[in-house]
Amino acid sequence: MRNDIVWHQSLITRGRREQQNGHKSFILWFTGLSGAGKSTLAHRVEEILHEYGCKTYVFDGDNVRHGLCSDLGFSLEDRSENIRRIGEMSKLFIDAGVIALTAFISPFRQDRRLVRSLVDQGDFIEIYCNTPIEICEKRDTKGLYKRARLGEIADFTGISSPYEEPDDPEMTIFTGEDGLDVCARRIIDYLREAGKIRHGSQ
Ligand code: ADX
Repeated sequence: MRNDIVWHQSLITRGRREQQNGHKSFILWFTGLSGAGKSTLAHRVEEILHEYGCKTYVFDGDNVRHGLCSDLGFSLEDRSENIRRIGEMSKLFIDAGVIALTAFISPFRQDRRLVRSLVDQGDFIEIYCNTPIEICEKRDTKGLYKRARLGEIADFTGISSPYEEPDDPEMTIFTGEDGLDVCARRIIDYLREAGKIRHGSQ
């Protein structure tokens, strides 16, 4: 920490906020290729948690890159900075008692490891959306794979820039095989079994 700036301790702690909210706060970190379904799944899980009365927020790569990270591109350095900022932002959100769901390609292990190290053990839940590139490319919802193949987009993840699979994610979801609700339900079940939420048991 910088030694010319003194941390101000809040009287309203994370614990008090969690107690008021009736649930714990944590990060659900979705990682995977563009088109793997990270955002769709994060928003579906958020919807379920919201219906249970949980405080939630989704950070989405495409949205954040219009604002907070609009100065960043897709070089290795810029992607690292993108993930560092989102990591710090998510850390603030869990301090605020909110469940932060993040949907970023976050292709590099080291960057994801850094975010994990920012928070307490158990607060970072890495969810690998494991969808083969062939399926992502076939979906090509934004038409970007086509443009990347044509050489119109440089450093495109999976084509001209690497994606490093997680070594030991808390969950791997096969978004190319299972339907949206099946994937979302698996995550909700995991959260309940891990003692993160008390809702949703029937
Ligand atoms: S990350 O690598 O820094 O985590 P992020 O998730 O924020 O990426 O942004 C990825 C989104 O940006 C993709 O879903 C896609 O829509 C768009 N995009 C534009 N250019 C690229 C590129 N070169 N590589 C990957 N995604 C790109």
